[in-house]
Amino acid sequence: MQKFSFEYTLHHTSDSADASRLAVLFFDDSLQCLSPSLFDKNSSGLRELLTHSLFDGKLASMVCLPGQTISVDMPSVLCVGLGKSSKLEYADLQRLGTKIAKYAMEHKQDDIRVFLPCAHIKPVEQLKTALGLCRGLWLGSYSFNQFKSNIEDEPHRLTTAIIHPDVNKWQQPLQQLQYMVQGQLYAKDLMHLPPNILTPVAFAEKAQDLTAYGVTVEIFDENKLLDERMHALLAVGQGSSNPPRLAIMHWPGISSNEKPTILVGKGICYDSGGLNLKTSMQVDMKYDMGGAAAVVGTMLAVAKQKHARPVIGIIALAENMPDGNAYRPSDVIQTRSGQSVAVLNTDAEGRLALADALDYAVTTYKPRAIVDLATLTGAMLVSLGHHYAGIFCNDGGLCDDLSHAGLMMSEPIWQMPLDERYDKMIDSPIADMQNLGQPSVAGSITAAQFLQRFVKKLPWAHIDIAGTAWIPSGNGVHDKGPTGWGVALLCQYLHNVAKK
Ligand code: BES
Ligand code: ZN
Ligand code: ZN
Repeated sequence: MQKFSFEYTLHHTSDSADASRLAVLFFDDSLQCLSPSLFDKNSSGLRELLTHSLFDGKLASMVCLPGQTISVDMPSVLCVGLGKSSKLEYADLQRLGTKIAKYAMEHKQDDIRVFLPCAHIKPVEQLKTALGLCRGLWLGSYSFNQFKSNIEDEPHRLTTAIIHPDVNKWQQPLQQLQYMVQGQLYAKDLMHLPPNILTPVAFAEKAQDLTAYGVTVEIFDENKLLDERMHALLAVGQGSSNPPRLAIMHWPGISSNEKPTILVGKGICYDSGGLNLKTSMQVDMKYDMGGAAAVVGTMLAVAKQKHARPVIGIIALAENMPDGNAYRPSDVIQTRSGQSVAVLNTDAEGRLALADALDYAVTTYKPRAIVDLATLTGAMLVSLGHHYAGIFCNDGGLCDDLSHAGLMMSEPIWQMPLDERYDKMIDSPIADMQNLGQPSVAGSITAAQFLQRFVKKLPWAHIDIAGTAWIPSGNGVHDKGPTGWGVALLCQYLHNVAKK
C-alpha cells in the first residue's frame, strides 16, 4: 500500500523566494496579480509580458514564465487565471488546483510554492478559495502505481508550500481538509486494488490497520457470522473460496456513552453476479466495494482529526461468485433480523449483505443516525449518471444535513423517494420479502425499500453511489477509475453536526 508522503508547509508572505521551487501566482481577467506580492505586481512590464504570452487571465488559463523575465529569484513562475475573481465556484477552484498539480508533476516540479489569491477577494471567500484550490492540488497529485514495475515504489507526491497572509489563522481548516483528502485517497487506493489481492479477508485487515490511529476494530469471521445469524451476508459469500467478513470500526474506542453516528458500507470485493452471472461491466465490479472503501477512508480521517463525537463504521465484505456451493435464485434466506428473503436474483447481493450489517447496527447500538453507502444498483447510473448520487432518507433533518455537506464538498446528492407503494413491490408470496421488485421498474428505489425494512424507525439515509464511486473517464479532478466519493461528504457532515 502506498504511503502518504504529501504534506503542506506553511509560510508567511515575507519568506524570500526559494530558488528550488516553482512559484504559482494568480491573476484576474484584467491581468491584475491577486497573489501576495513577490515583486511589483502591477508593473506594466509584467502585464505586457503576460499579454505577449497570450495569457488572458480567464479561469484556468495558464502560462509559465522564466522567473528572471519578471525579476523574481525563481527558475519559473506559473501564472494562473482566475477570471472574474468575484465569481469563484468551489468546484472550479478544485479543478484548477488539480490542473496546477498535474502541470507541476508533468514538469517534474514536485515542490511548489502557491501564492494563494487574496487581493480583491472578500476575506471569507479567501479561505474558501484556499480550501478549494488545496483540495484540487492534493487530489490532483494522486497516482496509483503499485503494480507498475518500471516506476519507483515510492511515487512522487507534490509538496505544496501555501503562502497567504492569513495562513497561520487557517491551520485548523487546512489540517482538517488534509485529513479528509488523505481519507479519500486511502479509499481510492483500496478501490484500485484488484479482487485477487483485496479479498474480504485482506480488506478486513486493512480495516484492522486503523488501530494504529486509535480506532478499535472488531472482525467477524465465518464462525462469528454464523453465531450472529448473519445468514444473508454468508449466503452472498458462500460461492467464493474467499470467505466473507464483517468489520466494525469504533471511534473513539468501544466505551462511549454518547449516541454514535453509524456509517455502513457495501464491500463486495468482486461482484460477478453469482449464478445470475453478469454479462456486462464485469471488469468494473471490483469497484463494488466503493461504499466500504469510503467508510474506511472516513474512519481514517475521523481518527486522524480526533473527531469529538463517537462514530462507528461497519463494512459488509464478501465476494459474489458462481459455484456449486453458491446461493441460488429461489433460495430462501433467514436474515439476522429474523425476516426471511426469497432470492430472485443473485446479482442483487448488496442489499442482502447490507441487511445483516444494518440489523447489527440497529440492534447493537443506539445510533443517532445511520448512513449507508453502496454501489447498489445499475439503475442509479441510469437515473443520475456520474455527477450526483441518490439519497433515500426517512428523516428530513438528516437528509438536509447530508445534502448540505455534499454541496459544500462538491459531492452532490439528489433525493429519491421512499413510499409504501414501492415497498409493496418487494413483498414475496413465499417469504417476508424478495430481493427484487419488478425487473427494470424503479430498481434503485425498491433496493432502498429493501434496506429500509432493516433499520426500523431510526434516522437513516442510504446513498447509492453506483454512478459516482468510479468514473469511466477523467472529470478534471479524478482520472478514469475510482473517485473515493463519499469520504468528503461524510467528513463534512460529521464536522457540521458535531457542533449541534
Ligand atoms: N453492483 C451492482 C450494481 C452496479 C451496477 C453498480 C453497475 C455499478 C454499476 C449490483 O450488485 C447489481 O448487480 N444490481 C443489479 C440488481 C438487479 C439484479 C435487481 C442491477 O442493478 O442490475
Ligand atoms: Zn450484483
Ligand atoms: Zn453489487
